[in-house]
Amino acid sequence: MQEVIFDALVHGVYVVTTRVGEKINGMTAAWVSQVSLHPPLVVVSIAPSRYSHDLIRESGVMAVNVLTSEQVELGKRFGYKSGRKVDKCAGLAWITKATGAPILPQAYAYLDLKIVSTFPAGDHTLFVGEVVEAKILHPQARPLVFKKSDFF
Ligand SMILES: Cc1cc2nc3c(=O)[nH]c(=O)nc-3n(C[C@H](O)[C@H](O)[C@H](O)COP(=O)(O)O)c2cc1C
Repeated sequence: MQEVIFDALVHGVYVVTTRVGEKINGMTAAWVSQVSLHPPLVVVSIAPSRYSHDLIRESGVMAVNVLTSEQVELGKRFGYKSGRKVDKCAGLAWITKATGAPILPQAYAYLDLKIVSTFPAGDHTLFVGEVVEAKILHPQARPLVFKKSDFF
C-alpha cells in the first residue's frame, strides 16, 4: 500500500531550517502543506528521530526553503545526513529575515514561520507554523518535485 501512496501523491521539495542560538541546521522535507488561509498556516511533518525535530521544538521557528528543479544536490545534501553528525550548512550562504531561521538565497522561494502548534501523527510530528514573511526569490525558476521516491 505504501508504494501506491508514494506514487499517488506529488510533493515539492523543501529545505526546512531552524536556528537555536549559534546552531543552525536544515533538513529536506517533502511532507509540507498549507493548511489555513487566515491566518496563513503551513504544516511540516517531521519524524522525532530527526535532529531538526529537537531544534525546531526548542527554537519555535522554522523557514521553508523551496528548492528549484536545478537543486537536486541540495535536496540530497540536507536529506541523507543528520546535522547531529555533519554541518550541512558549511560553505553555504544564508541570510535571516523575521524569525532568525536560515534562508537560502538561491531557493525558489522562502516562507518564514513561527510555530503555533504541534500534533503527534503516527510516526511523525506535525509542526504547524504561521507564515510571518514569504517571498519568491527566483520567479523564473521551476520548483523541484518529489514523486515515487525520486526527484523531477
Ligand atoms: C526528498 C526527501 C524528502 C524528505 N521528506 C521528509 C519529511 O517530509 N519529513 C521527515 O521527517 N524527513 C524527511 N526526509 C528525511 C530527512 O531529510 C533526513 O532524515 C535528514 O537527514 C534529517 O536531518 P536532521 O537529522 O539534520 O534533521 C526527506 C528526505 C528526502 C531526501
